[in-house]
Amino acid sequence: MSGDIVTIFDTTLRDGEQSPGCSMNTAEKLEIAKALVELGVDVMEAGFPIASPGDFEAVSQIAQQYGDRTTICALARCRKEDIDRAWEAIKHAEKKRIHVFLATSAIHREHKLKMTKEDIIQRAVEMVKRAAGYCQDVEFSPEDAVRTELDFLTEVVERAIEAGATTVNIPDTVGYAVPSQYYNCIRHLKENVRNIEKAVISTHCHDDLGMAVSNSLAAVEAGARQIECTINGIGERAGNAALEEVVMALRTRSEFYKCSTNIDTKRLYPTSHLLTTITGMKVQRNKAIVGRNAFAHESGIHQHGMLQHSETYEIMKPEDVGYRGTSLVLGKHSGRHAFRNRLQELGYELDDSAFQRVFQDFINLADKKKEVYDADIVALIENQLGDT
Ligand code: KIV
Ligand code: ZN
Repeated sequence: MSGDIVTIFDTTLRDGEQSPGCSMNTAEKLEIAKALVELGVDVMEAGFPIASPGDFEAVSQIAQQYGDRTTICALARCRKEDIDRAWEAIKHAEKKRIHVFLATSAIHREHKLKMTKEDIIQRAVEMVKRAAGYCQDVEFSPEDAVRTELDFLTEVVERAIEAGATTVNIPDTVGYAVPSQYYNCIRHLKENVRNIEKAVISTHCHDDLGMAVSNSLAAVEAGARQIECTINGIGERAGNAALEEVVMALRTRSEFYKCSTNIDTKRLYPTSHLLTTITGMKVQRNKAIVGRNAFAHESGIHQHGMLQHSETYEIMKPEDVGYRGTSLVLGKHSGRHAFRNRLQELGYELDDSAFQRVFQDFINLADKKKEVYDADIVALIENQLGDT
């Protein structure tokens, strides 16, 4: 696919790991980091080094082991000690980034930071400069950007770029945005921030209203070229934009977005599965792309269509996301075509009358059971064949 590349910035090990039920030790983080490198993420936010000695150690080891293959990013508040610690953790990586953040919305300024607008700008400029003194690749995030006055946000972003930020991230920290509003915000920044072309505009959307992926994609339409996301959408509260969903949306609808990513999509399912195994945090069965039902078809009409041509009911191929195959789940909605197909897969060729009897037994059983497994089918056949 031609067109622009959208940078995939993975924050599974930072924003994701920060959420309840998802904490990992260093060995587990290293295993995920390896999988993320193989997946092809462009930037990996490996942690928040000032947060704890364990976090520092994990970021440092990831930077040393994988910093030649992907950009390793460390998070820092706009404080000298945070930035120095972030640098210490990533300094051995060949490709490295410091990500500094400072809240800009009125509610954060007044109640959390007790800082004026002028204080915010001064601190942001000073700390972006400090980070830029260490590292050429600096990201600045005005935390709670979506609830920040647009003219102030425009000014902060402009001053951060002037101070040396090469990526400006626009977080929807509390998952409050709706797609058209987020689109307009990104468009406004693109059109009004002086020297905006010197920086990449990034999205960072939380899913409190279930719109993190839609908002991220709306921002790409408006000109953002980095998406921050996590595997399985893990993250604070309702989570972050799910990496597998944004990547497959950009790929499946490439004629619309005219953008692509560097992700090896065949690694999506295995990476999701690895994270689930390590954290114990399962994904819902009907989760897009990586849920157990994402490629499962039970209704007879759908199963019949699928057996004729997979594109009748599938817009993506399961193998493209590394899933082992479409499953035609046999249940009470399944029809004769799918049932005959399954019998053939199991090695049974029945004449019409035996087939009718076994099919009737199957329908009776399916009425009582949620799913009919291969072992059930074999038992029904053996029973019928034994009866004749
Ligand atoms: O949600 C948020 O605002 C963040 C920032 C640190 C980027 O995670
Ligand atoms: Zn976040």
